[in-house]
Amino acid sequence: MTKIRAKISGIHCYAPPYILTNKELEGMVDTSDEWIVSRTGIRERHIQKGEGLGTSDMGAEAVKGLLEKTNTSPDDIDLVICATVTPDMMFPAASNLISHKTGIKNAFSFDMNAACSGLMFAIITATRYIESGASKKVIVVGADKMSSITDYTNRETCILFGDAAGALLLEPTTEDVGIMDSIFGTDGSGYPYLHMKAGGSLRPASYETIDAKEHFIFQEGQSVFKFAVTKMADVSAEIMKKNNLTSEDVAWLVPHQANLRIIDATARRMGISKDQVMINIQRYGNTTGATIPLCLWEWEDKLKKGDNIILAAFGGGFTWGSVWVKWAY
Ligand code: ACO
Repeated sequence: MTKIRAKISGIHCYAPPYILTNKELEGMVDTSDEWIVSRTGIRERHIQKGEGLGTSDMGAEAVKGLLEKTNTSPDDIDLVICATVTPDMMFPAASNLISHKTGIKNAFSFDMNAACSGLMFAIITATRYIESGASKKVIVVGADKMSSITDYTNRETCILFGDAAGALLLEPTTEDVGIMDSIFGTDGSGYPYLHMKAGGSLRPASYETIDAKEHFIFQEGQSVFKFAVTKMADVSAEIMKKNNLTSEDVAWLVPHQANLRIIDATARRMGISKDQVMINIQRYGNTTGATIPLCLWEWEDKLKKGDNIILAAFGGGFTWGSVWVKWAY
């Protein structure tokens, strides 16, 4: 029997127009452009401004563009998965709101919370629905309004994050392209190093939690850095080994964009040169669910059918993973 794979058949992204530069951050906290660039690689990030706008609005912009670009009717979409840690509200899911805002009426939808690895977790979930024959046209959205959970008085975190959304269309194929393999991991014991303390069932919102600034990202940067470097590099090398891929076979590494030093370490470990690595952290910062789509979107013109691409991420949870994609168009 012919194997059915899931292929990525389109991609579109949205980044809000306001750009927060390192210079502007220098006026907000005790930091410098020099420190931010040398420690992270980030120069600017996009921020969603304006009342009444949330993650689903950015996600909807990305999905609208994707449907138009791929000439797809919203009626034909049967599943929408949104990877996000910043849904518009605790419930309903951001994916429900995105479907509603884009006229997608024949799909069921749900959110996936795996922090910076969320987009890849969502891609592989969509892949299983397609491989099983259960779904024919799936939209995976990575969208985060990180500015909504960032404390702009904390120099350790406010320099890192930005807002954006990316949407991918996945469809079945019998060709030898698409989502070829994946490796994933999670380790809940990593939660003390990276989490949001309040607003969940453990510590519901109260005057006390607000005064203690517990509704913002808490991160012990150095500890997370150590795990991220090891796990992202390990899992990227592992997927190559598992599939007998050499550095010559890999056209592109698409790493989650959290820190340029983590990206460099991953590329070194895989033995691939810097010009095969998609890097745009300097213009977007860490947009959590949107970093990998933003890269694929910006490099889309350079991609060729059959290119071997390795996606790799590490994030809060801890969560990590790598996906081997053979580009389909
Ligand atoms: N400007 C100037 N100085 C700063 C700043 C800043 N913005 N931030 C921290 N510093 C200072 C610290 O106070 C410290 O000063 P001290 O030596 O006097 O105590 C010094 O710089 C070094 O601080 P470190 O935290 O050790 O800096 P580090 O080199 O580790 O860089 C960073 C911090 C960028 C956060 C890094 O640790 C990192 O990238 N960590 C991993 C992030 C990550 O991958 N997260 C996972 C994904 S996010 C998610 O899932 C939502």
